[in-house]
Amino acid sequence: MSAGRDAGDLVVPRSVAVIMDGNGRWAKRAGLERIRGHERGIDAVRTTVTECARLGVEALTLYAFSEENWQRPRREIDLLFKLLQRFLIEERPTLMQNRVRLVHAGRRDRLAPAVLALLDETIAVTAGNDGMVLCLAISYGGRQELVDAVRALARRVAAGELRPDAIDEAAIHGALYQPSLPDPDLLIRTAGERRISNFLLWQVSYAEIHVCDACWPEFGAEHLRAAFRDYGNRVRKFGKVL
Ligand code: IPE
Ligand code: IPE
Ligand code: MG
Repeated sequence: MSAGRDAGDLVVPRSVAVIMDGNGRWAKRAGLERIRGHERGIDAVRTTVTECARLGVEALTLYAFSEENWQRPRREIDLLFKLLQRFLIEERPTLMQNRVRLVHAGRRDRLAPAVLALLDETIAVTAGNDGMVLCLAISYGGRQELVDAVRALARRVAAGELRPDAIDEAAIHGALYQPSLPDPDLLIRTAGERRISNFLLWQVSYAEIHVCDACWPEFGAEHLRAAFRDYGNRVRKFGKVL
């Protein structure tokens, strides 16, 4: 399905990235523990994945756990990864039904073996799906991604495989965690925050930003449609005069 395909009144972006924020605030407002917000957030993930796949989005990147999130209390981290493991098992039928292919962006070294095993298993199970790509950013930081890319390029230079002058935008892009994914056309952040929080620093260079006031557990198909409508009203000039 092509980018910008008209789905009724919607212009569907080819590539969408989401900073899923406000789980804790949602829970606090409801008089619940923060982890209940994360739990409810899974429903919003399911809805968003299913809707994006149905509408013809080519790639959806969800910020699930940042490099900086490792500084949260151990208990919250453990519960978040328990939820992730549950998601990776329970959502497999939904991923398969929607022909979604899972990939991961982020550093693997701090992830527990059990998490890595389930992640790799789900990636393998969905590898043959020809629909939307779902990229989960876990233990992900935009600066760390650039550090890792620079290291990979430097190793190739040191090995004599790459001339320093041959390092261009395409070479840097090619050294990112998921080089085959198109750059996000639309970046959505929930809970009203206006920050990038170290997400996809290279890739969001020309993304349109949509801030949604709802907290992530409240985010539903209507919020997604509102984001796409907002996106459809933007004039994307890419620096040119139109
Ligand atoms: C987003 O919700 C989930 C993660 C960052 C893992 P938060 O946990 O950041 O919720 P708030 O921002 O504290 O409300
Ligand atoms: C960004 O949310 C990270 C994820 C959504 C996984 P945070 O809640 O961690 O970001 P800050 O602290 O508001 O910047
Ligand atoms: Mg937050």
